[in-house]
Amino acid sequence: MPDPAMSAQPKSDPHPLIRMQAIRKSYFSGDIETPVLHGIDLTIERGEFVAIMGQSGSGKSTLMNILGCLDTPTSGTFNLDGAEAAQLSDNDLAAVRNRTIGFVFQGFNLLKRMPLVDNVALPLLYAGVSMREARERAMKKLALTGLGTFGKRLPNQISGGQQQRVAISRALVCDPALILADEPTGNLDTTTSQEIMELFTRLNREQRITILIVTHEPDVARYATRLVRLKDGLVTYDGPVAGAHF
Ligand SMILES: Nc1ncnc2c1ncn2[C@@H]1O[C@H](COP(=O)(O)OP(=O)(O)O)[C@@H](O)[C@H]1O
Ligand SMILES: [Mg+2]
Repeated sequence: MPDPAMSAQPKSDPHPLIRMQAIRKSYFSGDIETPVLHGIDLTIERGEFVAIMGQSGSGKSTLMNILGCLDTPTSGTFNLDGAEAAQLSDNDLAAVRNRTIGFVFQGFNLLKRMPLVDNVALPLLYAGVSMREARERAMKKLALTGLGTFGKRLPNQISGGQQQRVAISRALVCDPALILADEPTGNLDTTTSQEIMELFTRLNREQRITILIVTHEPDVARYATRLVRLKDGLVTYDGPVAGAHF
């Protein structure tokens, strides 16, 4: 039998960035099993801009944690950028994650006592890049999100929207193919949310970064081109945002 992993991928049909098949996830507490995801199939191609919606408790964050290799599924297959996640060691999985994915969270998650440039540089330092080069690359990403002159400030010296831009700069600093953002506008007012979504749109169009965003708000989801709706751990809609009911 030829090993399928060894066969060449045809150039016109490269592997998708993400392919999940029959993903199930339960949380266990002692003998008690709480099933949360009940069989998710999801394929995401490079360059897509996808919004994930669903009621609180429907499994959005659980799904994002699996997509981000921060948690493992109970069963099913998850292929990230051509690599079968279950077949990688923890170290290899961490390497694929660091190279492929940038994370953005609702609460920004900046280190309070650290200047913005160093907050952004941190993932590069973890990856073994020198301080000097890490700061240079961090300043470029701050400039890309409109904060080129803010490097020396501390997080409490800028607004919430600016803090989220810093977090997006940090997510970009390792040049990921994919940004995973779990309710990135959840702590922001309407105008600032629009600015952040315009930034994601620009990164998607100009830098060709694939974007996956979880949101409660139809007005935020409408910036995406594809909508995935979850209900009780199952996908109930997967299609264009334009044709979707909100
Ligand atoms: N670490 C955990 N241990 C046990 N149950 C969890 C854990 N994380 C989430 N859950 C449960 O899984 C369900 C889905 O949670 P979550 O994925 O956070 O949903 P959402 O992000 O859509 O609000 C909820 O019922 C939640 O209580
Ligand atoms: Mg959540």
